[in-house]
Amino acid sequence: MGDRFSQLLELRKKTEVADPAAAQKLREQGKLTAWERVEALLDKGSFVPIGRFVRHRATGFGMESRVAYGDGVIAGLGTVDGRRVAVYAQDFTFMGGSVGEMHASKIARLLELAVKIGVPVVGLNESGGARIQEGVDSLKGYGEIFYRNVMASGVVPQIVAILGPCAGGAVYSPALADFIVMTRKSYMYITGPKVVKASVGEDVTHESLGGAEVHATRSGVAHFVVEDDLEAVRLIKRLLSYLPSNNAEDPPFLDTGDDPLREDPALDGVVPEDPVKPYDVREVIARVFDRGSFLEVHALFAQSAVVGFARLGGYPVCVVANQPAYMAGCLDIDSSDKISRFVTFCDAFNFPIVTLVDVPGFLPGTVQEHGGVIRHGAKIIYAYSDATVPKLTVIMRKAYGGAYIAMGSKHLGADYVIAWPTAEIAVMGPEGAIEVIYRRELEKAPNPEELAKQFAEKYRAEVANPYVAAARGYVDDVVLPRETRAYLYRALLHLLDKREKHPRPPRKHGVPPV
Ligand code: HXC
Repeated sequence: MGDRFSQLLELRKKTEVADPAAAQKLREQGKLTAWERVEALLDKGSFVPIGRFVRHRATGFGMESRVAYGDGVIAGLGTVDGRRVAVYAQDFTFMGGSVGEMHASKIARLLELAVKIGVPVVGLNESGGARIQEGVDSLKGYGEIFYRNVMASGVVPQIVAILGPCAGGAVYSPALADFIVMTRKSYMYITGPKVVKASVGEDVTHESLGGAEVHATRSGVAHFVVEDDLEAVRLIKRLLSYLPSNNAEDPPFLDTGDDPLREDPALDGVVPEDPVKPYDVREVIARVFDRGSFLEVHALFAQSAVVGFARLGGYPVCVVANQPAYMAGCLDIDSSDKISRFVTFCDAFNFPIVTLVDVPGFLPGTVQEHGGVIRHGAKIIYAYSDATVPKLTVIMRKAYGGAYIAMGSKHLGADYVIAWPTAEIAVMGPEGAIEVIYRRELEKAPNPEELAKQFAEKYRAEVANPYVAAARGYVDDVVLPRETRAYLYRALLHLLDKREKHPRPPRKHGVPPV
């Protein structure tokens, strides 16, 4: 008996790390092993593994002699801050964390389990992609993971951290998840530098092709960038603190101790008198929502929009804002994608959406038009119209044209729209508008510049203010900026139990612009 028991204890150790020598290499790179990552994430002693002794059954290419307990992935259930999660972590020390049939089956089973019990899934990824030696069995494994990612989408939150290389098939499961966190030591791409060189002749490094910087700033694949494994874990825990465990729950209330009815006089001075002067919308966010509660998502990508989670009187909400400090807050292809995806996520998981509007319009030009800004911009309209959660909108300054409609307007189903006295709501800005409506007068005038200025002032006074829209009921109330927090909080309390009552014809699903 003693032998059997000690054999188990020995085998159990082997399931924690397949190759201790390779693990040493990871540590030298400043990384944790897969097991250490799981331990860092979960509450102490809470981990209940699945498929601990699973091994592959592949033959050929020397696979008979390359076997590891767990098949290169640790998976199971545990708790984070007392709340249940499903977690898996790929062990790079066994065949580079590559995904074979059995490795994949563990992840697929975990995803199924997570949906059945309604808990978020956290992936801690580091993988060379499909295990080449296992051929089509490996591809089948990936397909089964992807299918379950899609089935879990909108049912339980899915978060993936990229903690090292993630190549080939290793990128798609993260891309099907809700949030991707990348460390500065990680990279992800479909084809690596060697193939890129051979096929298109480009010289690239792992980092310049698919490093965290690239994916956080340019491709938009990464939602968060962190320094290392431990910071990734801290970020995931913070993110989880806002999220409901599944789509049948509300996001968790947390008493922040910040008076929801507090007025902030400094808010009255945030928007400059000069309508073209920039300001940082993050200052508005910081002052309106509970102190220190804003967790920005996609902070470095498409920066003319700002999105993220915050709390209002302790209730988690999604914040969507234009950013006048960047490209004057214009919407473009990337910011349209950023906003629409976030709104869709928030709607799926019962977050009220608070939209802060200061938008001059969509960015003009061939780059945008040829890149499909029409279909990308349409995604914002689609996402807001589709969303049935409480929708509250604050028009702070500019709200022009299609961008006015798109940014959570009354016409797309906002429950409350309020405006600051500085709001300008119109089909277009004064300068563009007078060129169209007074073109003939300006052509004939001896002093066109002077006249244009007068027309612009007249237009601004008569049209570009909140009261025309308020007279129609498109704006429910005009409030002082300092009153915004209390107004939103009071409105939110009434809307928390909102059940969408619009007649929505039955359909399998809509066909959103992509
Ligand atoms: C089998 C793999 C592997 C893979 C890595 N390894 N990737 N084994 N299948 N896909 C093994 C290596 O042979 C090595 O084994 C060990 O893992 C560690 O890898 P290293 O190369 O030493 O590590 P590193 O230098 O850090 O480089 C990491 C890497 C590189 C950049 C990920 O390993 C790499 O380029 N791998 C191949 C990536 C790739 O082309 N994947 C696409 C597969 S096709 P030893 O025995 O030497 O320790 C695919 C398509 C699926 O994924 C499509 C589904 C939609």
